[in-house]
Amino acid sequence: MSQNLFDTSKVDETAWHLQGNWAPVKEEVTVDSLEVKGEVPKEINGLYVRNGMNPRSGYSDHWFFGNGMLHGFNFENGKVSYKNRYVKTPYYEKDMDIMSSFGDLSSSPANTHIVEHAGKYLALEEAHLPWEVDDQLETKGAYDFGGKLKGAMTAHPRICPKTGELLFFSYSSFAEPYLTYYRVNPEGKLIQIEPIEIPRAVMMHDWNITENHVVFMDLPIISDMNLAIETGSPFGFKPECGARLGVMPRNGSNADVRWFEVDPCYVFHPLNSYEEGNNIVLYVCKQQEAMVGGFQDIYGGDTTVARLWKWTIDLDLGVVKEEQIDDAPCDFPRVDDRRTGLKNDYGYCTTLDTKADSLTIGRYLLKYDLTNNKRLTHDLGENVTGGEAVFVPRSSDSKEDDGWAISMAYEAETDRSKLLVINSQDFESSPVAEIYAPQRVPNGAHGSWVSKD
Ligand SMILES: [Fe+2]
Repeated sequence: MSQNLFDTSKVDETAWHLQGNWAPVKEEVTVDSLEVKGEVPKEINGLYVRNGMNPRSGYSDHWFFGNGMLHGFNFENGKVSYKNRYVKTPYYEKDMDIMSSFGDLSSSPANTHIVEHAGKYLALEEAHLPWEVDDQLETKGAYDFGGKLKGAMTAHPRICPKTGELLFFSYSSFAEPYLTYYRVNPEGKLIQIEPIEIPRAVMMHDWNITENHVVFMDLPIISDMNLAIETGSPFGFKPECGARLGVMPRNGSNADVRWFEVDPCYVFHPLNSYEEGNNIVLYVCKQQEAMVGGFQDIYGGDTTVARLWKWTIDLDLGVVKEEQIDDAPCDFPRVDDRRTGLKNDYGYCTTLDTKADSLTIGRYLLKYDLTNNKRLTHDLGENVTGGEAVFVPRSSDSKEDDGWAISMAYEAETDRSKLLVINSQDFESSPVAEIYAPQRVPNGAHGSWVSKD
């Protein structure tokens, strides 16, 4: 049953997610001082921690199923130390297969993101509970907000920079409610739980917040047991189901949600969203379609690669204006965390290669100057690929792009990984520092900057 449900029959050890810099590493290592080319700015003090899929056995049926491994780079007064640790959930300890893990909300791969809120570091994956780790990346346990969280948690919660609230949702693939909204106060107490009605179960990977609203994305990667039986994949792209954005006040409920139609598409990751008068603006990495051939088919050519789009929801007229901002293929968008849900002038993306036959990260990082409609390009160099770029402000009150974009990069020729520190205001120049990891850091998913100033 488990083999059929996720159509793993065509996957073997030559699958793309086990090759090159997607291949897992085996060792957990701790190194006090890393080799640096250039100079690490002394103003950078804190922890950059990135999560990613790293199957313990060396094999996983799907990129999404590898065990979560955290890579932490601790910056202190110009020196950087490194530590990598698995998130040791039952899925790791028992080396479980993914279907067994669905019976237990705590058996998470915990492989997609890590965020810090109210002093807790939560390693996240979207079908299970969060897992708490300490600031040394050692696993503490499953975290359910004092027993109040009885479902999964998205890997993409948002922390409001104005209120300090943590906002998130969960989606369920096979049982109602298919969508639930949660609000956590700045002290870490879960204070609101709202089931939200949507017509069918969909894969909802990410979402949006603004100062007063949240915006759900009901986009047509649907999940359905009948589909699993018919096609071998429980997920499929069904544009005929339509695509909608649901706007709800942050303290609202299902009755308050207003739904707005958009052209069928898929968005794994929005860049940011904000209110502008009676409009809500969303910048999103939007692709024409997704998982066309089922769950294994994350990448199926040009139409499944995202580009930057702007959606403007007119709350008065009840319509959405859709504009393509750029034709560069890109994803893993990030904004200065201090602008989450607020008007941002800048955003950072990672390019993807549209010519490859699997998900392939490109050799450029992009900085969008959205106000002046400009794209700046950081060329990583021949045979070097990057990752999600996270913004580190120079200080807590420095202006929006006064700081550094940091990104994991991989040099194919030397088989080495390095953390790049790029001056955001001189984005196209060489990094101010290239910090070499003591062992390869496989391509991963998302990470966070946790300031210690
Ligand atoms: Fe994601």
